[in-house]
Amino acid sequence: EARPDGEHNWSSNYPFCGGAFQSPIDFQTQLLRYDPNLPPIQVQNYNLATKEQLTLSNNGHSVQLSLPSHMYISSLPHRYSAAQLHFHWGSSNLLTGSEHTVNGKRFAGEMHVVHFNSDKYPNISMAVDKHDGLAVLGVFIEIGEFNPAFDKFFKYMNGIKYRAFNIHALLPARLDEYYRYDGSLTTPPCYPISAVYIVCSNVTVVSLQFLALATALYASYAQESTTVPLHGNYRKPQIADNRVVLVSFKDGK
Ligand SMILES: *[C@@H]1O[C@H](CO)[C@@H](O)[C@H](O)[C@H]1NC(C)=O
Ligand SMILES: *[C@@H]1O[C@H](CO)[C@@H](O)[C@H](O)[C@H]1NC(C)=O
Ligand SMILES: *[C@@H]1O[C@H](CO)[C@@H](O)[C@H](O)[C@H]1NC(C)=O
Ligand SMILES: [Zn+2]
Repeated sequence: EARPDGEHNWSSNYPFCGGAFQSPIDFQTQLLRYDPNLPPIQVQNYNLATKEQLTLSNNGHSVQLSLPSHMYISSLPHRYSAAQLHFHWGSSNLLTGSEHTVNGKRFAGEMHVVHFNSDKYPNISMAVDKHDGLAVLGVFIEIGEFNPAFDKFFKYMNGIKYRAFNIHALLPARLDEYYRYDGSLTTPPCYPISAVYIVCSNVTVVSLQFLALATALYASYAQESTTVPLHGNYRKPQIADNRVVLVSFKDGK
């Protein structure tokens, strides 16, 4: 799919983008290995009940919301503190835009909450090229019933500064079933194996009407700094490179 600066051309300026161990990938059944020792995902301080200064910015690939580092994942060997969250959507006339796919099935959208290893690195800039630097919590988004948490989130997205947001409410109810593998950020400079991806197997559901609205809003915001139309900001699936995807649930569908 066309992205603001054309993913087919990334590797001419960012060699890692054309290299090994890239993300996203298609979660094909033959790549999955059940690991009964994977603990349920645990996140802390995801309910931003007090007013935080959150800033919305456009990095040229997606619209991202900065997050405070007291939000963190506590179920990994290191503490991974939140840095930002962003979405991958389709376009207004093609509402499928998740980055990861499951046996070829692409979902309506995907949320990424990006964390850095704050036990070892002072900030995300120092962590982004390290093999244990990042952890990305991914959530598939499907079309279905109305979701008040997402509705509130997007309603205030443009003027999001100093608002209380419950990011936890954007996650699926159950966090014990997920895919986990080593990959890269899906935008340049694509450092390999810098990120452990933890993608919830269950989906968060939003209404069709709302998704179309959010997609249009998101695309118009993303276009402010680019002259190329944004037709879905997801990267095409990358080769698995002999990687194994650990799954915390039996019979990875
Ligand atoms: C790809 O990148 C090269 C080097 O930056 C540039 O010369 C070329 O115009 C780009 N091609 C496209 C289609 O963007
Ligand atoms: C990240 O940490 C490094 C090392 O402490 C520092 O030099 C750099 O300015 C920091 N970057 C940001 C964006 O805070
Ligand atoms: C997945 O989400 C649906 C809808 O919210 C829910 O009914 C179901 O119990 C969830 N399944 C798991 C395994 O969490
Ligand atoms: Zn992403």
